[in-house]
Amino acid sequence: MDPLLEELMATDIHSSRRPIAARRARLTTLAGTAMLALGLGATGAVAAPSLSAQSFSPDFAAMAQLKSLIAKGKGKIGVLLPETTTSARYTSFDEPYLKEAFAKAGLTKDQYIITNAQGSESTQLTQAQTDISQGATVLLLDPISSGEGASVEKYAKSHGVPVIDYDRLTLGGQRAYYVSFDNVKVGKLIGQGMEQCLANWKVKSPNILVMAGAPTDNNATLFKQGYMSVLSSKFKSGAYKNAGEPAGTWDPSVARTTFEEQFTAHPHINAVVTPNDGNANAVIAYLKSLKVPPHRFPTTGQDATLTGMQNVLSGYECGSVYKPIYLEAQAAVALAVYLRAGETPPAALVNGKTMDSEAKMDVPSVLLSPIWVTPKNMAATVVKDNFVSASKLCAGKMAKDCTAAGIKS
Ligand code: GAL
Repeated sequence: MDPLLEELMATDIHSSRRPIAARRARLTTLAGTAMLALGLGATGAVAAPSLSAQSFSPDFAAMAQLKSLIAKGKGKIGVLLPETTTSARYTSFDEPYLKEAFAKAGLTKDQYIITNAQGSESTQLTQAQTDISQGATVLLLDPISSGEGASVEKYAKSHGVPVIDYDRLTLGGQRAYYVSFDNVKVGKLIGQGMEQCLANWKVKSPNILVMAGAPTDNNATLFKQGYMSVLSSKFKSGAYKNAGEPAGTWDPSVARTTFEEQFTAHPHINAVVTPNDGNANAVIAYLKSLKVPPHRFPTTGQDATLTGMQNVLSGYECGSVYKPIYLEAQAAVALAVYLRAGETPPAALVNGKTMDSEAKMDVPSVLLSPIWVTPKNMAATVVKDNFVSASKLCAGKMAKDCTAAGIKS
C-alpha cells in the first residue's frame, strides 16, 4: 500500500500532538492521495487517464488505466472485421489481441461484440445494424470497401453511434477517428526492402512486376504509393525496368494467376513486388513449382505471418513488414473506451491525421510504426514479441535457417 495511505489509516487524530491546522492540512493531502489512487478527481468525478500513442506494450499493461472510464460509459463496443482468406491476421491476431485489450481494460464479455464478415459487404452492414440493435454505442470498423464502409457509417450516425475506422480508412466516410499503421511508410519499407534485396541477391538488370492489393482497400493504395515513391526514380533512370502493374487483389489465388499470366507473357521478369505475405506465398509456390532456387527471385510482403517468416528465412521472400497488431488493438480499444464514456481522447494518443480524399477532410488518427523484418532482426522483433512462435517457425527443415538467423526454438 502507498505509505501515505497507510499513515492515513493508522493516524489517530485525537492523540496527535500536532496543532489542529497542520493536522488538517496533512489530512487533506492524504485524502487527496487516496482519491487519486482511486482514480477520482478533486470533485470526486472520474479522472480520464491520459494515454499516448507510445503507451502500449506487449503486456497490455496500459489497458488497466482505462478501468476508471468503464463505469462512466454505457453499451457495447462492436468490432467489425472484414475477412479471413486474404490474411491470417484477422483471426490469428486482431481478434485475440482485441479480446485481450478489452479484458485488460475491464470490459466484460457481454460489453463487446466481435464479428467477421467473411468478405461479404452486405454481411458487414447487417452485422453493424445487429450490433447497434443489441446496444452498441461505439463501432470499430475494418471495412471491406469504402462504399460499404460509408453505408455502415451513415447508418451508425443516424443512430448516434460514433465509428472508429480500424486499420483501413473508409473513403467518403464519417467516422470520428482512424487507428492504423503509417501505411505509406509500410509501402516505403517494401520498396526499400526490394532495393536492398536486389543488391544482396545480386539480381542483374532488375525487371520488376509491380503487384498491389485490392483496389477497394485504401491501404493497398497507400502501400503502392509508398513503394512507388521508392522505385519510380530507379524506373525513370533505367536502373530497373517496370515490367507492369497488373490489377490488384488481396486474394492469393487470384494473385497467383495474375503472376503466372504475366510471367508467361514476360519471361524476363526477375523480381516481383508482392503487397502482403499471403500474395507472396502464392507467387512463391508457383516459383517453387518452376524449381527456382532460393536467393534468386525477390518477392516482398507485409503482415509477418508464420509462412511469410519461413519464406523470408528460406530465401524466397526478401522481408516482410511487421505491424505489431497488439499496438493497433490496444490503441483501438483505448479510443473506443474514451468515446463510450463520452470523453475526448487525449491529444498525445491521437498523434496524426489522415486525408480522406473523397470526403476531403483530415481524419484525426492514431498512427503506429511498422518494422521491416529480415533474417537479421527476426529474433529481436517478431519472435521476441511471440507474434510468431519460434517452435512453429523452426519446425522440421526450417531448423537450420533458424540457427543461421540466431533464432532459438
Ligand atoms: C490490409 C491490411 C493488411 C493485410 C491486407 C489483406 O488492409 O492492412 O495487413 O491484411 O489488408 O487483408
